Amino acid sequence: MKTAILAGFRSTTTQEVPGWQGPCFDRTAYPPRAFTLEDGVRLVPGGSAARRGAYVAPGVVIMPPAYINVGAFVDEGTMVDSHALVGSCAQIGKRVHLSAAAQVGGVLEPAGARPVVVEDEAFVGGLCGLFEGVVVKRRAVLASGVVLTASTRIFDLVNERELTGVVPEGAVVVPGTRPASGAYALNKRLSLSAPCIVKYRDDKTDVSTALEEALR
Ligand SMILES: CC(C)(COP(=O)(O)OP(=O)(O)OC[C@H]1O[C@@H](n2cnc3c(N)ncnc32)[C@H](O)[C@@H]1OP(=O)(O)O)[C@@H](O)C(=O)NCCC(=O)NCCS
Repeated sequence: MKTAILAGFRSTTTQEVPGWQGPCFDRTAYPPRAFTLEDGVRLVPGGSAARRGAYVAPGVVIMPPAYINVGAFVDEGTMVDSHALVGSCAQIGKRVHLSAAAQVGGVLEPAGARPVVVEDEAFVGGLCGLFEGVVVKRRAVLASGVVLTASTRIFDLVNERELTGVVPEGAVVVPGTRPASGAYALNKRLSLSAPCIVKYRDDKTDVSTALEEALR
C-alpha cells in the first residue's frame, strides 16, 4: 500500500485544489475526501480533513480540527477528537477513543515500514503520541501524555516485565520516569521517560473511560 501511495505523490504535480477558504496547493492524487450523509460519518464543521485513500467507517466522529492521512483506516464508532492526527496508513479499530491532540504517526516520513495499530475499544488519552509501528491491543488504556515509539521500554508493574512496541490487551499505561544511567546522568539527576502499566483494565477504568453514547 505504501508503495502505491508514494507512486501517487510522484505521479502528480502540485496544483491549485479546492479548499474551504480559498485555494490550497497540493499533489492532486490526494485531495481531501468528500463525504456524503450516506457515509454515516459525523464530520463536525471547523476544519478537519480526511485525505483520499483513507477509509473512514460509518459511525466515526471527527471533531475539528483533525487530520486523517492517506492510507489510514478508521473503523466504526471511533471518535477522532480535536487536534488528533491519524497518520498515513495508521489502523484504528472499532469504538476507539482518540482524545484531543492524540498523535498517531504515519509511515511516510520519516520512512517507516510498519503502521501504528490501535485495536478495538482502546482508549488513547489526550496528548498521547504513538509512533513507529507501535501496536496498542484491544481495550488498552493510555493515560494522557503517554508517548510510545518502537524503542520505548514499557514497564509492566503487574507482571514484572518490560515490553517494547506493544501495549497488551487491557493494559492501563501511565507516564512514568526512570533514572538515566551513567555518572553524568546521576550527577545531573536526569531521568528518562518510562511508561508504566499500573494495572489491567477493571471496573474503575471502565468508569474513567466511559464513552458518551449521545456523542455518537
Ligand atoms: C488512566 C486513567 C483512565 C485512569 O484509569 P483508572 O483505571 O481509573 O486508574 P486509577 O485511578 O485506578 O489509578 C491506578 C493507578 O495509576 C495512577 N494513575 C492513574 N492515572 C494516572 C496518570 N494519568 N498519571 C500518572 N499516574 C496515574 C494512580 O495514581 C494509581 O496509582 P496508585 O495505585 O499508586 O495510587 C486516567 O488517569 C486518564 O488518563 N484518563 C484519560 C484522560 C483524558 O485524556 N481524557 C481525554 C480528554 S479529550
